[in-house]
Amino acid sequence: MEPKTKLKTSKRQAEHIRRKVRNIRKIDGETGGSKLVQLHHAGEILELLKDERVSGDVYTFPRPFNLQSVTSWIEDHQAQARAGEGLLLFSRAPSGEIMSITDFQFWPEHSACEFGGAFAHAYQNQSLGLHGIKFMCDWVFETIGVGLIVLTTSLDNVRSQKIINHLGFTPMGEIKSVRPDGSLRRSLYWEKLK
Ligand SMILES: CC(C)(COP(=O)(O)OP(=O)(O)OC[C@H]1O[C@@H](n2cnc3c(N)ncnc32)[C@H](O)[C@@H]1OP(=O)(O)O)[C@@H](O)C(=O)NCCC(=O)NCCS
Repeated sequence: MEPKTKLKTSKRQAEHIRRKVRNIRKIDGETGGSKLVQLHHAGEILELLKDERVSGDVYTFPRPFNLQSVTSWIEDHQAQARAGEGLLLFSRAPSGEIMSITDFQFWPEHSACEFGGAFAHAYQNQSLGLHGIKFMCDWVFETIGVGLIVLTTSLDNVRSQKIINHLGFTPMGEIKSVRPDGSLRRSLYWEKLK
């Protein structure tokens, strides 16, 4: 996918975004923050994604879920991070279990970012989504320095749609999102400029 709006971006600005992304190891936050997913987290991530209440609505996750697909997915994100074009981060609850995972895609040449993710089922419906997505929007605008955020949801993901509307994104119709296995998913598409 590419953003519908293509912001005019100089080579210098694009390189600045790439450099910022390459150097990210963690995001500090009020609730313990997020860290880059490493290969040794594959087993824990697999357990999280196997729960369809967590993964069912997210098109970027690597189906079918098994240790091999999740490991390749992490390796792919490590390559994206080296290129300054993607990041895969997770957060832990105070109890130690993985609480959330966030998958960032950057288009430095358009000064744009899309991200998506999921909370473990025990942490859904507590407004963590609203606060977490707002936090990540501020972070990509302020710390990475992009000028545009793109978000997409499945047609029936009412919770995400409410959050995205609350955050003032502009709805821009429907698109077909491409899953890692090449299959298509109908998605609603929103944008927000910095
Ligand atoms: C989607 C997700 C991030 C939302 O976060 P959350 O913390 O669970 O949601 P919130 O508690 O912030 O609630 C979001 C809104 O949905 C509403 N809501 C909750 N359950 C609902 C339901 N069954 N029907 C309609 N609205 C519902 C809430 O009232 C709230 O709206 P409001 O602020 O207008 O009151 C989280 O549930 C999740 O990770 N789900 C699984 C993966 C997923 O769908 N990821 C998003 C892909 S785009």
